[in-house]
Formats: sequence, C-alpha cells, structure tokens
Amino acid sequence: MKALITGATSGIGRDMAVILAKQGIDLVIASRDTKKMHQLARRLPVNVKIVTVDLSKEADCYRLYEETKNENIDILINNAGFGAFGPTWEVPLETELNMIDLNIRAVHILTKLFLQDFMAKDNGYILNVASSAGFLAGPLMSTYYATKSYVLRFTEAIHEELLREGSNVKISALCPGYVETGFDKRANVKHSIGGVSSKKVAKAGIDGMFRGDVVILPGILMKLTYVGEKFLTESLMLKAAYTAQSKKG
Ligand SMILES: NC(=O)c1ccc[n+]([C@@H]2O[C@H](COP(=O)([O-])OP(=O)(O)OC[C@H]3O[C@@H](n4cnc5c(N)ncnc54)[C@H](OP(=O)(O)O)[C@@H]3O)[C@@H](O)[C@H]2O)c1
Repeated sequence: MKALITGATSGIGRDMAVILAKQGIDLVIASRDTKKMHQLARRLPVNVKIVTVDLSKEADCYRLYEETKNENIDILINNAGFGAFGPTWEVPLETELNMIDLNIRAVHILTKLFLQDFMAKDNGYILNVASSAGFLAGPLMSTYYATKSYVLRFTEAIHEELLREGSNVKISALCPGYVETGFDKRANVKHSIGGVSSKKVAKAGIDGMFRGDVVILPGILMKLTYVGEKFLTESLMLKAAYTAQSKKG
C-alpha cells in the first residue's frame, strides 16, 4: 500500500507517517519544508517520496496530484492546515485567505481528484483532518472554525454518497480537540491546560480511517463533547465558545 500525507513535517501528520511506515506502507509526503521531509524520510523504514509544495497555492495542489497520480496511491491524508487567533477585524485578510486556500481549497482539490481515481478502481481511503472546531462557530478564531466546518460537512456528505453507491472507497473526518503540536505557535494561541499527544490522535485517525468511520473522535472527552454540545442552544454555544477561546490569547 502507499499513502500520500500532506503536512507530514510536524505534529499529527508526522506521527501518522511514522505509524503507517511501521505498518509497512510506503509514503509520499508533501509540505513546504524539504529539509524536514528528508530528515523524516531517513528515519522511516519504507520508501518515501518527497514533494515540496505550498498547498495554499492552487497550482501546487494540481502539481502534487500530477506528480503522484501514477504512484498507485491507496490512502490520501489531507492533514496540512493552520489557524489564526484574534478578533476577525484584527487578523490580516491575507492570512485568512491563505488559510481558506490551504484548509479548504487544497483539501477540496485533492479529495476530488483522488476520489475520482479511487472510484475508478473501487478502492482507497481518504482521511481529512478536520477538528472539533468544525462542530461550532469559533469566536476569536472565526475563519479557522469555519474552514473546519467545511472539511467536516464535505467529508460527511461524500461518506453518505459512497455508502449509497455501495463503494469500497472510504472517507473519514478526524476531529481532535486540543493537540500539542506546532499548531499553537503559528496560530498564536496559548493553552493553560495540556492537550492530547499527537501520537494518540494520529493512531486514532489511522485506526478510524481503516475502519471507515465517518467522524473520528479521539479520546473520551471528545466523544462526550460531540454528544453534549447537541443539547446546547446556538446562543449558549457561542457564549461558551467565546469564553473558552478568550483564555487562549
Ligand atoms: N493541534 C491542534 O490542536 C489541532 C486540533 C484539531 C485539528 N488540528 C488540525 O490538524 C492538522 C495538523 O496540524 P498540527 O496540529 O499537526 O500542526 P503543525 O504541527 O503546525 O503541522 C502542520 C503541518 O502542515 C504543513 N503545512 C502548513 N502550511 C502548509 C502549506 N501551505 N503547504 C503545505 N503544507 C503546509 C506543515 O509543514 P511545513 O511547515 O513543512 O509546510 C506541517 O507539517 C491541521 O489541519 C490542523 O488544523 C490540529
């Protein structure tokens, strides 16, 4: 088997690469930092192809597909993504548009192109890394939460289409809460409590992907949050979300 992972130089994506390599699955890893990708490749006991791309650029999304479409990819993991903290009027528009391009456009383009290939061979797995941020609106990280809603809903809808089709292709959305990675530094957020380790989240993601779970919720807390918030009104959720988010500044 062979997996393509975007954003494998750090955090959840890197841990997923390590887990899949231990299972003997060859890899294509794609991110901006060529040096870090080579460092990771040297540690892994499988064949690793490196593609340097900035996936916030549409042309690089298509280039990644062109460079991998004949590689017999069985697994696509759309993991690369970032967030930005602050009142919406203060976060630079350029940062938000870049986030939309990476978190939504790149995920959409790669999902679509590989889904078509996987449908043609009636086989394959797609794992889209969404977030618990996809469950609700996120004051003080408004764009990030909205991008993850897109990823979650897009993935859920395709999951249902595949079920109705009786397809062997599987698609899942991984929805972790706070995970300790490089995410916080780029998003400019601080947490007063510790998060889940990216190794645990990566393992939950890979296991859930192979089971074909539609939404993967790593850890009991995330499962309880997912169910619990369905009992809150939209207005209560917004207030609770603002209060929780404001502590991250
Ligand atoms: N950490 C959390 O609390 C948390 C919670 C829920 C969901 N998530 C999601 O999990 C995913 C992985 O995040 P993480 O927490 O592991 O963060 P991370 O440690 O910052 O890793 C982000 C990865 O994305 C890559 N990347 C960033 N911008 C890119 C671009 N323009 N083009 C290509 N690759 C790019 C980075 O590689 P390069 O720098 O080498 O390009 C890096 O490998 C994201 O989608 C994030 O939204 C994170």
